[in-house]
Amino acid sequence: MTQAEAASRAAFLSAELHRHNRLYYVEAKPEISDKQFDELLRELQDIEAKFPDLLTPDSPTQRVGGAPLEGFTQITHTVRMMSLDNTYSEEELTAFFARVQKGLGREKIDCVIEPKVDGVAITIRYENGVLKYGATRGDGATGDDVTNNLKTIRRLPLRLPKDGPQTFEVRGEVFMTKTGFAKLNQEREEAGEALFANPRNSTAGTLKLLDPKIVAKRPLDIVFYGLAEASDVQSQNEVYALLDAAGLRKADLIWHADSAEGLLAAIRELDEKRKSLPYETDGAVIKVNSFADQRELGVTSKAPRWAIAYKYQPEQAETKILAIDIQVGRTGALTPVARLEPVLVSGSTVSNATLHNYEEIERKDIRVGDVVIIEKAGEIIPAVVSVKKEHRHGHEKHVHAPTHCPVCGTAVHRDEEMVVIRCPNPHCPEVVKRRIEHFVSRGAMDISGLGESVIAQLVELKLVKDVADLYDLNELLLARLERVGTKSIDNYLKAIAASKQQDPWRLVFGLGILHVGAGGARKLLEHFGGIDAIAAASVEELIQCPDIGEIVAVSIHAWFREPHNIALLDRLRAAGLNFTQRAVTAASDKLNGTTWVITGTLSEDRETIADTIRSNGGKVSSSVSGKTTYLLAGEEAGSKLDKATKLGVKILSEAEFRGML
Ligand code: IVH
Repeated sequence: MTQAEAASRAAFLSAELHRHNRLYYVEAKPEISDKQFDELLRELQDIEAKFPDLLTPDSPTQRVGGAPLEGFTQITHTVRMMSLDNTYSEEELTAFFARVQKGLGREKIDCVIEPKVDGVAITIRYENGVLKYGATRGDGATGDDVTNNLKTIRRLPLRLPKDGPQTFEVRGEVFMTKTGFAKLNQEREEAGEALFANPRNSTAGTLKLLDPKIVAKRPLDIVFYGLAEASDVQSQNEVYALLDAAGLRKADLIWHADSAEGLLAAIRELDEKRKSLPYETDGAVIKVNSFADQRELGVTSKAPRWAIAYKYQPEQAETKILAIDIQVGRTGALTPVARLEPVLVSGSTVSNATLHNYEEIERKDIRVGDVVIIEKAGEIIPAVVSVKKEHRHGHEKHVHAPTHCPVCGTAVHRDEEMVVIRCPNPHCPEVVKRRIEHFVSRGAMDISGLGESVIAQLVELKLVKDVADLYDLNELLLARLERVGTKSIDNYLKAIAASKQQDPWRLVFGLGILHVGAGGARKLLEHFGGIDAIAAASVEELIQCPDIGEIVAVSIHAWFREPHNIALLDRLRAAGLNFTQRAVTAASDKLNGTTWVITGTLSEDRETIADTIRSNGGKVSSSVSGKTTYLLAGEEAGSKLDKATKLGVKILSEAEFRGML
């Protein structure tokens, strides 16, 4: 390929990719599959690798994440990024409207009402149709240049359509959807990583990452609500039109009202509707529509007088802390958990709340016996918000960070930031229990029947010290278990024996290597073909595997070099476990061209059913969208079922699914 040929092909590919991105995200009318999109992208990447001077900052290849940064440079905002005054009551909102009426000297004032998205404020500048930079609010005057991280958001156009506005600065909010956040936390839990408390924290943490490759894997999204500077627009309504013309997503719900009663009706309706929005919202933003009116009302030193945030009360409840226990995780992490007097919040009974870490206990001065306010909303893990100190009697007990593991007595280890406290003893009975529970779980080796209480007995009787010991169990040893009959013993032994045939990615996942979730384990086996090849791989070779970044690679490399683990693997191999990837032979092409989402409880675990779908030619996706052909719904199907019903996606029972095959 000559330089000229490469240049013309690259320009074509780039334009096509921008077009398809727009078709997917803005118009919701995709013309090609994800796979075809990836093929075009790959071709462009190859050309740019051979002809580096063809690479432009707005190239679609720049989304996947470039080189990590040393730190963020600062950007001085062209126009200050202000915040809003908050109100929590309908009276205060009415008073706000009265102030606006007085300021403008008339009765009827057109206002818009939008959801207040609970994310991170961002400003993005486009020049001549190309995304120039994006920055966080910072102190309002200057913020971090997070352009590379923002470019990973596929909904965000890197280049604007030619027929719309070309140079302007837009303000919006970066967020994670409720489902994206739940999935991220689930993956983190599986990989033995600390969980994020809520989507906002997780968004803020992600934007602060210096390596855009990691950011590219996080489910960030964006919505816009305004302009830095009103050049040719005269109202918020015209801002919406401009956003539409530029292909930038605006609020999903917008109301107009010109009286206090109208505002109240809108915020009440929004409170109902926001539960079904895909992202967390913590309030409504009310803005005077006309920019001429806005200018007349003016601003205070920190917030505009023409807008206000009406915050909904997060669902809170008062209860008492009965105890603060230490939960020992699979990686040895010691996490304090508050045991509560059970209380109803957001429609479910809460009897535990996370305290995250001991710093938090100290900061909030939480004691056993305290009356506390707890909060729960949407995907957020129940948390203790504050202590009602006026209810103290003086008998409340302080708790301190443990210096030794409460179970095995080993001196604890603190990580660099001193937040996570770990029991470093690999033989700690509690850590061993968690590890076995993970190994036998449905998503891993799927050894059915071996529940928590049986595992606890096995570990306490010292019948099982690691996962390889499971394969040495026999009838005689299991007869020592209490309250377990011969029939159960027989079932356990059968299930353990059957697990030897499981796909090796399940074994890799089941081993509980830090940062390796089910998805990562699958990728490793697809790439390396067998566990021995993974074990032998250098960090550089591991990084070559899709979805395996440096931190993960280092963790895998270290795991396979620990003598204890080498011995464990040898014993698992000797026990006859499957170490090499089975060639996936297509069972049929009956499901060709169909995309499935699996939800609820089914007769087999989800990965097994997903494998069946794939081996019959179907695709499996984690979330319901317009592209979903079927929702396979088991018992207790929840939000996915609701969404599929809404979108008119065909819903199948397990029996109907089996019938198709
Ligand atoms: S308008 C002068 N509209 O809330 C600031 N803000 O407390 C005008 N936010 O910094 C902001 N959703 O990050 C506006 N629909 C919305 C919003 C919104 C979320 C955030 C934004 C802002 C903060 C103000």
